[in-house]
Amino acid sequence: MDPRQILRILIVLSGLNGVCDALLCNCTAPHCERDGFKCETNGACVASTSVIEGQEQHVRLCIHKEKLVPPGQPFYCLSAEGLMNTHCCYTDYCNSIDLRLPIVTNGPGAGQDWGPVELTAVVAGPVFVLCVLVLLGLFLFQHHQRAYGHRQRLEVEDPSTEHMFLAKDKTLQDLIYDLSTSGSGSGLPLFVQRTVARTIVLQEIIGKGRFGEVWRGKWRGGDVAVKIFSSREERSWFREAEIYQTIMLRHENILGFIAADNKDNGTWTQLWLVSDYHENGSLFDYLNRYSVTIEGMIKLALSAASGLAHLHMEILGTQGKPGIAHRDLKSKNILVKKNCTCAIADLGLAVRHESITDTIDIAPNQRVGTKRYMAPEVLEESINMRHFDSFKCADIYALGLVYWEIARRCNAGGIHEEYQLPYYDLVPSDPSIEEMRKVVCDQRLRPNIPNWWQSYEALRVMGKIMRECWYANGAARLTALRIKKTLSQLSVDEDLKI
Ligand SMILES: *[C@@H]1O[C@H](CO)[C@@H](O)[C@H](O)[C@H]1NC(C)=O
Repeated sequence: MDPRQILRILIVLSGLNGVCDALLCNCTAPHCERDGFKCETNGACVASTSVIEGQEQHVRLCIHKEKLVPPGQPFYCLSAEGLMNTHCCYTDYCNSIDLRLPIVTNGPGAGQDWGPVELTAVVAGPVFVLCVLVLLGLFLFQHHQRAYGHRQRLEVEDPSTEHMFLAKDKTLQDLIYDLSTSGSGSGLPLFVQRTVARTIVLQEIIGKGRFGEVWRGKWRGGDVAVKIFSSREERSWFREAEIYQTIMLRHENILGFIAADNKDNGTWTQLWLVSDYHENGSLFDYLNRYSVTIEGMIKLALSAASGLAHLHMEILGTQGKPGIAHRDLKSKNILVKKNCTCAIADLGLAVRHESITDTIDIAPNQRVGTKRYMAPEVLEESINMRHFDSFKCADIYALGLVYWEIARRCNAGGIHEEYQLPYYDLVPSDPSIEEMRKVVCDQRLRPNIPNWWQSYEALRVMGKIMRECWYANGAARLTALRIKKTLSQLSVDEDLKI
């Protein structure tokens, strides 16, 4: 059996509750009111006491088994010194306790009223599980190293913490991803987000934008990206956090959101948005640095279409998702993951559509997208703002421009061109709306699709898609789903393993 598989099974087994019996817990959540403030679960009961903005808060909840990740130290069971005192337990109504206020404590949530037996169990249990896992991890790691020694040498990460051994297969991000796809999909509960955010150590600044700065941070040995908004941009911060927490939004090709937090340090408010970290940076940076193979091009294009298709798609039902249009799609707002697929980011300008009431929750801030990527109807202000599909069509136009940027860097047959922004040859470097409108609407010009692309099937298909993304009439453009299907078919035809 593959060592990764063994490790995965071990992780599952160490989830502490192999029994499927329903567990009854004390529950303070509003939705438990009609059940007499109790809930039933296959996981754990949790009690949490925290001080948030000077207010003492007591929370009692059920946590489902699938959400008890990472094993041994689930997010939901974390205590944070001085912030939050949390206790997970596994017997009926065991969370009907009043935890002390979070003060600096020794040991994992050791309550005063705990006998020596419980204390020993609480300390020895996890330590034992951890030791076994670390030893096994070490063994499998070495085995793995021996087997894949050459190929892996470059990838070995700093093994200074045992977390990294476990994370070799499952990263922090994967765990959060599992957590939210198996659950309601709307992300971590707020009090956990706050705890995660406040225990991140910022490492280095990796970007600056109109909203503030982006940092690389460390959380429990893993990298995370932290977008820090200036206090003025509170609305943008709130809006982006709100969009990212849309139910069922999570998707492998949309940037994984981890937490939002507003820290008030007395003089100003720090607004944080924590997400997955991708060391390759944006697609823009990536294309500037590297050319891509035909396979690489299809992978980038297909994954971007998948992400956008998921964003656009409306899922009906109680666990449904509204349709979302991005409104600022461009290569700088798409990240490249380690496996060379895309993750769509920067959802601060997005709009959501509720089909039942047919309403669009237009972003309260009046910022519009990036001029260079604006669809003709946006430049002309002829877009029908009441019709949600028109925003989707504008996204597709921008996606076509992104495809052009990618395809130019494709080194089919040893030829590829320098990286350029779309319309680089037609407008100045920081074009005004008027300059863009002249080129895109009046002259009806589009980026050049070279003739030699016709001699390569993949480039020919990409060129065709671009043309069909760039129609002046938004409604005539392709849909993200159609593009995704065309590219999936292309990857099959090109015999790619994607
Ligand atoms: C939940 O815990 C609180 C505090 O200990 C207690 O007052 C309440 O009766 C409990 N509720 C249930 C349903 O057990």
